[in-house]
Amino acid sequence: MAEILGAITVSHVPSIGGAIARGLQNDPYWKPFFDGFPPVRDWLARVRPDVAVVVYNDHGLNFFLDKMPTFAVGAAPEYRNADEGWGIPVVPPFRGDPALSWHLIESLVDEEFDPVTCQEMTVDHAFTLPMALFWPDMQWPVRTVPVVVNTVQAPLPSAARCYRLGQAIGRAIASWPGRERVVVIGTGGLSHQLDGERAGFINKDFDLRFIDSLMNDPAWATKYSTAELVELAGTQGVELLNWLVARGTLPAKVRQRHVNYHIPVSNTASGLLLLEPA
Ligand code: DHB
Ligand code: FE
Repeated sequence: MAEILGAITVSHVPSIGGAIARGLQNDPYWKPFFDGFPPVRDWLARVRPDVAVVVYNDHGLNFFLDKMPTFAVGAAPEYRNADEGWGIPVVPPFRGDPALSWHLIESLVDEEFDPVTCQEMTVDHAFTLPMALFWPDMQWPVRTVPVVVNTVQAPLPSAARCYRLGQAIGRAIASWPGRERVVVIGTGGLSHQLDGERAGFINKDFDLRFIDSLMNDPAWATKYSTAELVELAGTQGVELLNWLVARGTLPAKVRQRHVNYHIPVSNTASGLLLLEPA
């Protein structure tokens, strides 16, 4: 059976791609952000996963506002970057794992989650930048399975449903007969709002409480409706639903290996958390 080695949850902001491209890792603005990553890179180099299941939200690449699946799973042999602009100029393609993708899809449909299945899929900054932060040489050592959650257009899946989706993904991976070593990555958040009267909104108290909850009380955020989560974390901060999916793949008891929180990266409160099954 395949094994989940841990879950890494991390913010995604397009300007990180520009900073990587221009080599600004030690620039005073960027240093506190990039300094969060070496412990995660060291952990990845030590545990050597074969596969990354990447839970994120598509920003209008595959699904625009006219067609918006609640959940979608990639089942392609390869995924190419097609970011909308200010990301990394060149990103090597990502290898897929169609066999594991289809197993995940079949398991999820068995559990009545019914994702859209994507035999072709492009990926954006929400997928590419966490990968480039974890493996800066961009020689991706893992095959990938993209899992897309609608955090973009109402109605969003509830936090409770996202947590349960994660639990179902955890069961699917555990029931895969291969011996793959899997890391689950959840991207987005933490608090930020890019549009409207509250543009620039950040809620540090909520973010820190949320990060803390993922350790010992992972269902804490499920007491909020998605409207309340938008109120608390911002219209884009609700991307934290992807963190809940990733957390759901782990058992109740986890060990925190690393945490970093930094305000701001662009308009976003950036968070990074690495959890292992205890
Ligand atoms: C920003 C944050 C995001 O999550 C995103 O998808 C795009 C931009 C930002 O803070 O600039
Ligand atoms: Fe985003």
